[in-house]
Amino acid sequence: MMDWDVMLTPYKQAVEELKIKLKGIRDQYQLTSKHTPIEFVTGRVKPVSSILEKAKRKSIPLNKLEDEMQDLAGVRVMCQFVGDIDTVAELIHARTDFEIAEERDYIKNEKRSGYRSYHMILRYPVQTIDGEKPILVELQIRTLAMNFWATIEHSLQYKYSGKIPEEIEQRLQKAAEAAYQLDEEMSKIRGEVQDAQQIISKQRESLRKRG
Ligand code: GTP
Ligand code: MG
Repeated sequence: MMDWDVMLTPYKQAVEELKIKLKGIRDQYQLTSKHTPIEFVTGRVKPVSSILEKAKRKSIPLNKLEDEMQDLAGVRVMCQFVGDIDTVAELIHARTDFEIAEERDYIKNEKRSGYRSYHMILRYPVQTIDGEKPILVELQIRTLAMNFWATIEHSLQYKYSGKIPEEIEQRLQKAAEAAYQLDEEMSKIRGEVQDAQQIISKQRESLRKRG
């Protein structure tokens, strides 16, 4: 019998630590007048029911889960602009508190479904009462538009148990193209958007100071 609580505890720890660290980056940017490349961060440990379903689907033996299921721990960073994704990836590369095991660029190499995101598999050292335990964490970096699309598509995958009808699949591909266009347009007016955001944050700051 597998003790899931025992096995997943370091994963939970890693997700919480990484969320704090990534939010720390965001907070540091917000203290400067620089645009923050991180809009928000989410994270989760894969629910046991999903672990079992995926292990069965991919024929992963339960005693190899920790090496072969790379998304037991998952962290997501959402960005406003496509260019922010590179900035976040660079910040991750520069860190010394974990290693990068793998990188997959589904932005340059969009998936057939229309899925786009930048993936990094981190080897993250968790400090446990039995010493240091390196575990794998999947980090997904994406824009708000990419996230909107992926969230909707994921619900439909779920609804149709992975067999989305062709007509809906085509609509999703069209929606992915629209999300891509939205990201492109926003990148083009990025300077304008950032000026506006700076004015707003300065106004907020002066109102706060006046109390
Ligand atoms: P899984 O897709 O997780 O079974 O493993 P994999 O080894 O094929 O890795 P891949 O890099 O393809 O996907 C990793 C994760 O990216 C998935 O678990 C999803 O969270 C996300 N992802 C990949 N492809 C899609 C997609 O077409 N749609 C959505 N919504 N998410 C995707
Ligand atoms: Mg996949």
